[in-house]
Amino acid sequence: MAEIQTILVCGAGTMGSGIAQLSAVSGYRTILFDLDSAILTRAEQQISTQLQKLEEKGVISKETNKAASERIQFTTDLNLCKADLAIEAIIENVTIKKDLFHKLAELNGKETIYASNTSSISINSLVEGFMYPAQFAGMHFFNPAPVMKLVEIIQGAQTDPNIIAVLVGVAKQMKKIPVRCSDAPGFIVNRVARHFYLEAMYMVENRHLNIEQADAIMEAAGFKMGPFKLMDLIGLDINYSVSNIVWEALQKPKRLTPSSLQKEKVDAGDLGKKTRKGFYNYL
Ligand SMILES: NC(=O)c1ccc[n+]([C@@H]2O[C@H](COP(=O)([O-])OP(=O)(O)OC[C@H]3O[C@@H](n4cnc5c(N)ncnc54)[C@H](O)[C@@H]3O)[C@@H](O)[C@H]2O)c1
Repeated sequence: MAEIQTILVCGAGTMGSGIAQLSAVSGYRTILFDLDSAILTRAEQQISTQLQKLEEKGVISKETNKAASERIQFTTDLNLCKADLAIEAIIENVTIKKDLFHKLAELNGKETIYASNTSSISINSLVEGFMYPAQFAGMHFFNPAPVMKLVEIIQGAQTDPNIIAVLVGVAKQMKKIPVRCSDAPGFIVNRVARHFYLEAMYMVENRHLNIEQADAIMEAAGFKMGPFKLMDLIGLDINYSVSNIVWEALQKPKRLTPSSLQKEKVDAGDLGKKTRKGFYNYL
């Protein structure tokens, strides 16, 4: 079975930065790649702050903090992106993801494992035309990646079962709970959770309640975050795109119609916490 020493994380946004932190803390040499140097700088600062907080809380030792920081390399240079496992966490767009995987495969070859952190794009569609389909799978972390325990490991029609076993091993090394799932639209969590977001938005659209009430009520009912706070954390562009992909993949059922309320926010560029404005304002 392939031994993973180096993990490449592509995309240094909300998810990529958390996955890279997790990878480095878990002992892997880690490369974090993004096209945008400003986002990479922000990720570097964010990881350093998070590791410092973990050290202060006694979750990791000073030595682990230092070793993890030294294990991460930040780069905008694709030529440096050589690894045993490449985890892609870039924009939720099939064409752009496929293009990146093609370039990574040319650089890395057939031994590397290629995994996508996509929330909703079918693994079988991502792998169409890919050089090494048996080496390709889904590895879906949840937000924030260093905190959330669940990782969905998605087996495509052509994925070698040994690759799934390696990814399960990596997730366990990261102290996560890996769950194997099939390549169904939205996989498991994002399919089930669609209603959590959509019904809340439909109710607000129909003026049955406002966003603050919806969040307060769901939190009082036991959810850690209400739907609107959670969508702001996820990113409204990502969440809206997942809704569209799942809806289309299931032949556009009325019950899963994407919300116009969310589309308006996305069109206005109010994407949630990452742009400091979404359903709420973040100063
Ligand atoms: N946000 C969430 O809660 C969440 C949870 C689980 C999975 N995901 C999935 O993870 C992926 C990333 O989501 P995110 O929220 O981190 O997005 P994000 O918008 O925060 O970050 C995406 C990053 O990708 C970079 N990028 C875009 N094209 C690139 C390319 N060709 N090469 C390298 N970098 C590129 C951008 O510069 C940006 O920094 C998506 O597929 C999303 O569906 C998101």
